[in-house]
Amino acid sequence: MAEIKKTWYKEMSVYQIWTRSFCDSNGDGIGDLPGVYSKLDYIKSLGVDGIWFSPIYPTPNADYGYDISDYKNINPEFGTLDDFKMILDGAHERGMRVFMDLVVNHTSDKHQWFIESCKSKDNPYHDYYIWRKGNGKNPPNNWLSIFEGGAWEYNENLDEYYLHVFAKGQPDLNMDNPKVREEVKSIMKFWLDMGVDGFREDVITFISKAEGLPNGFPLPVATGVEHYKHGPHLEEYLAEFRKVTDQYDCFTVGEGPMTSVNDAVKFCSDGKNKLLDMLISFDHMNADCFMADWVKVPFSLTKLKSTLTKWQDKMYGIGWNSLYIENHDHARIIDRYGNLKYRVESGKMLAAMYILQCGTPFIYQGQEIGMTNMAVKSVDDYKDVLTFNTWRIFKKLGFSEKRFLKLSSEVNRENARTPVQWNKSENAGFTTGTPWFGINDNYKEINVEDAENDPDSLLNFYRQLINFRKGNELVIYGKYKEYYHANPNLYVYERVLGNEKLLVVCSFKEGSVKFKAPKGYDLSAGELVASNYKDNKIVDNGFVTKPYEVRVYKF
Ligand code: NOJ
Repeated sequence: MAEIKKTWYKEMSVYQIWTRSFCDSNGDGIGDLPGVYSKLDYIKSLGVDGIWFSPIYPTPNADYGYDISDYKNINPEFGTLDDFKMILDGAHERGMRVFMDLVVNHTSDKHQWFIESCKSKDNPYHDYYIWRKGNGKNPPNNWLSIFEGGAWEYNENLDEYYLHVFAKGQPDLNMDNPKVREEVKSIMKFWLDMGVDGFREDVITFISKAEGLPNGFPLPVATGVEHYKHGPHLEEYLAEFRKVTDQYDCFTVGEGPMTSVNDAVKFCSDGKNKLLDMLISFDHMNADCFMADWVKVPFSLTKLKSTLTKWQDKMYGIGWNSLYIENHDHARIIDRYGNLKYRVESGKMLAAMYILQCGTPFIYQGQEIGMTNMAVKSVDDYKDVLTFNTWRIFKKLGFSEKRFLKLSSEVNRENARTPVQWNKSENAGFTTGTPWFGINDNYKEINVEDAENDPDSLLNFYRQLINFRKGNELVIYGKYKEYYHANPNLYVYERVLGNEKLLVVCSFKEGSVKFKAPKGYDLSAGELVASNYKDNKIVDNGFVTKPYEVRVYKF
């Protein structure tokens, strides 16, 4: 193994903001940039070194910003470019970097390019998108969208169909057109020249579609995905974009649904052929579901450990991992992998479990205070195209609304999109107006203000972990090794660098489990650097775990 290349993005921790639900400054019920600005000190107080903004560009909100109608401006619901520049400066002054979401697999159907593209076949923008003739009276192939029925939309005027692998309002760009790639580079430069520090690249592994767009293997959704999840020109196009980012001191993390660790190694290897600095993998988010969040199965710790260990082992010394357990696309993690009865304890255990691995940790808004899922009374209370499409499919499968809502309260990504709970006041201090989406009823018990006042809160534990990691080469660069893989209740791993070692012991069980230190470890010689209970007695070079206990020892 080569010596790990040390660099700032490997050493940072990042906070993710989904602006609409973060903090509303003007009482219109929608989170905005002045709201974010007012919380910069709070974000800094977590110890993080960067902020990733989910899309904040103008959008008609078919997918809440992941449908962009102007790449070089700010969503007026959120503020102005000047508001953004204030945040950029404010973050930089505080020693934090700022990363934008780059969504270039598709645009909004309200983007000027698409509007032009629909005008005629010889319009210069027509070839910016993927237009095809129908197959007789049928769409060009059998592809289904990931979000909304068929993947093709018919345009009568042109007598052609356009491709959208997500919602109808998200037409796919034709990345094979060199002009489109030039546009992407120009967008990148626009933000980098302004001072932005890098990009999270949305479904970037989908940008190249297979030659001839062949029919896909029939599935209930996303038929055809095998023909674009890692298309023929993906690496070539990423290399082109890399030439732009290489001119700046910035970083890129690509979202890679279904990307295998072997491909991730290929894309992210340090060296001159590197395409992305990191990849967002989905593997470890499937420990309680089959392929997709909505296909729920019982949580399996061994499945979780297998995927995390695989990525840790294969990337070590070659590329770099991104570490996360929450974002705007998944239900809250304590509801999934933890236990609501032990919300704070299991939240702390989960935090240590992932932040202390080798990679760059991302923390999603509200995760740091242990926000939880929210049940709603009717499907109409939801806002997201994915929810409505999933309801359409489940209804066909015979689900009643009640049964659907129960499942939804466990798995729906909208659970992570409820407004951040700042305090006990009305609307959890998120807005003085009517919130655009429901506030979780539990805001009187779970909110930032209370967590600030409690030294043992989850919030303060996150701070402790993030600060412990900061500048700590053992945690940042140490080699990972898992112990007791077959144990279905304990996740035990070590990090080693030179003479230093870290041992992380996590129990995923409410009941007690017997833990004995792995061979070669003398627990009494270790320094306990983090734990989620006060009583940390060692018995027989081990201990019997309390519910969701975590202990971290340094040697
Ligand atoms: C992945 C994003 O994270 C998700 O929120 C979005 O809906 C899809 N890509 C489509 O852009």
